[in-house]
Amino acid sequence: MNFASDNVVGASAPVMQALMQANAGAMAAYGADEITRRVKARFSEIFERDVAVFLVTTGTAANALALSSAVPPWGLCVCHREAHVIDDECGAPEFFMHGAKLIGLPGIAAKLDVPTVKSYLQGLPKSVKQMPPKALSISQATECGTVYARDEIAALAAVCREHGMALHMDGARFVNALVSLGCTPAEMTWKQGVDILSFGATKNGCLMAEAIVVFRPELAEALDYRSKRAGQIISKGRLIAAQLEGYFADDHWLANARHANRMAGLLAEGLKQLPGVRLAWPVEANEVFPIIPKAMSEALRTAGVLFMGWTEASLPEGEAIAPDEALVRLVTSFMTPEEDVGRLIEIARGAVARQAAE
Ligand SMILES: Cc1ncc(COP(=O)(O)O)c(C=O)c1O
Repeated sequence: MNFASDNVVGASAPVMQALMQANAGAMAAYGADEITRRVKARFSEIFERDVAVFLVTTGTAANALALSSAVPPWGLCVCHREAHVIDDECGAPEFFMHGAKLIGLPGIAAKLDVPTVKSYLQGLPKSVKQMPPKALSISQATECGTVYARDEIAALAAVCREHGMALHMDGARFVNALVSLGCTPAEMTWKQGVDILSFGATKNGCLMAEAIVVFRPELAEALDYRSKRAGQIISKGRLIAAQLEGYFADDHWLANARHANRMAGLLAEGLKQLPGVRLAWPVEANEVFPIIPKAMSEALRTAGVLFMGWTEASLPEGEAIAPDEALVRLVTSFMTPEEDVGRLIEIARGAVARQAAE
């Protein structure tokens, strides 16, 4: 049973079928093909307005390129201190921003709030010696599996406007957040003031397909050149586009995310009934962060369940992990079988029973 990440599963059947179909015959290379044209038009339909779209193969590439178009080399990009862009991309955003810096701020459950961002920005000296803030990057869903509500995004966007900053959304788990909020893609992005989005699809069913979606046209001006310099203008680009075509067809992407989120919900419900288990923060997408007895964590590992331990950095005030406890991360995906969720809960229940009998 693998709850280590939503990257551990392969691609979904409709995505693979679309890929096989697109594989036949010859087509124009480097994104000049008909499938890429159709998929880009589909993004405009999905977002209910004209958007510029750049297809890439990894979330790191999407984030680094998106931020490089929003932040000049002398600028600052503010993000949460646990954000993937600052913590898990080996400096790629700074590399592509050519000298600009990422600044990580604290926030419960990996979410930034307006007072924290405002007080940081207000404290910045304004002189030619200091790098000016040029962008704010938020993850939706966050690295703690929480989701920004629409008004929270709008409030952060207002701060960005006040300070002349662009708002970037890292949507590696975009659709998990979307189905959790039950709103439209437009309502979760540009209608609240998001300027540029890293649209993730790999975690939720694609083989390797992500997109940079640009809502402010000037941010798209040089993105094709930036993409080429990053090796992200794919020669057989139709095979990236085809994955997204299969992903969007018949609302497959929404169904996949609903399944993943439902599995996370069941897991959370089952675990939190057990004595000694509590959730570090609410489960709002496809990740569960329970604080469990160490004995339970060991029992799960012994039974072959794969999962990760997690950092305490974003715990709510007053919450602490005792020496005999562990904070762990369990991630569900579009492929997680409901039986695996049930089995994991049973193993955890067994660990509780054993501990009580000792
Ligand atoms: C929040 C977040 N952003 C971006 C990414 C994309 O990373 P990758 O470059 O591995 O596709 C991930 C993947 O784990 C992620 O969790």
